[in-house]
Amino acid sequence: NRHLISAGDLSKDDALLILDTAEELARVSERSIKKLPTLRGRTVVNLFFEDSTRTRISFEAAAKRLSADVINFSAKGSSVSKGESLKDTALTLEAMGADAVVIRHGSSGAPHRLANWVHGSVVNAGDGTHEHPTQALLDAFSMRRRLGALDGRKVTIVGDVLHSRVARSNVLLLHTLGAEVTLVAPPTLLPVSVHTWPCEVSYDLDTVLAKSDVVMMLRVQKERMNAAYFPSEREYSRRYGLDRARFAKMPDDAIVMHPGPMNRGMEIAAEVADSSRSTIVEQVANGVTIRMAVLYLLLGGETA
Ligand code: CP
Repeated sequence: NRHLISAGDLSKDDALLILDTAEELARVSERSIKKLPTLRGRTVVNLFFEDSTRTRISFEAAAKRLSADVINFSAKGSSVSKGESLKDTALTLEAMGADAVVIRHGSSGAPHRLANWVHGSVVNAGDGTHEHPTQALLDAFSMRRRLGALDGRKVTIVGDVLHSRVARSNVLLLHTLGAEVTLVAPPTLLPVSVHTWPCEVSYDLDTVLAKSDVVMMLRVQKERMNAAYFPSEREYSRRYGLDRARFAKMPDDAIVMHPGPMNRGMEIAAEVADSSRSTIVEQVANGVTIRMAVLYLLLGGETA
């Protein structure tokens, strides 16, 4: 594949190749080798039309650790504010010699459109409520490092599925990798199409928790929220929040995940987020390794 736009485009072999490559890269950095020469002379453009902390910084760190040149573009402060289109912005960056464009955009489908306009590889870093494939890959990598192979593992994803590109990409990738996913959310925070997704759906968090190997909490995305979908923070937290009592219902070796950024005290209690069974900080570190693997596999084999 030349691009990474949807987790659903990855076969099991593709996904395992990315995870195994990340494992090798993790072993290299554990030997204190911080920088590899693999992408010397290649240029990676980070094209961010929406805010990001983890994804933007980790793509930059990943590209630099592979010795690529990195250009960071943020829509804020650019000519996008003067009405320049995505296509013209992309062509401008392409003229500066991008071998790969990493794009985050508020519109679902923007990376797909971009792939028709540029010659380099396009990597989806989150498009609207559609997909966030490298998040799903780093989540699978984090699960595999803690629990081993994912075949038959029970993963529960809880919360604002309606607005979550992370949930969709995780469902698609985890299904491909043989895990069994259950989504738990209030009916108003599930997309209408959810019954066509390769997963189970439940409205009862307490029953599902006891059978989970992984519990992944989602951020309540207030900025995308219609008030009618979301009666009150208190009620949401009471019914769907992972507090100490619910955490105690999980099996002793089950792990807690969250893609970040978190609303501490709403979808997850601070003491749960900070527990030794939470992988939240590991997920960030693994994000750099997974993005190194993705850039390496997309760009590494070609000559500059
Ligand atoms: N998980 C994630 O995508 O975080 P950012 O929005 O900070 O990149």
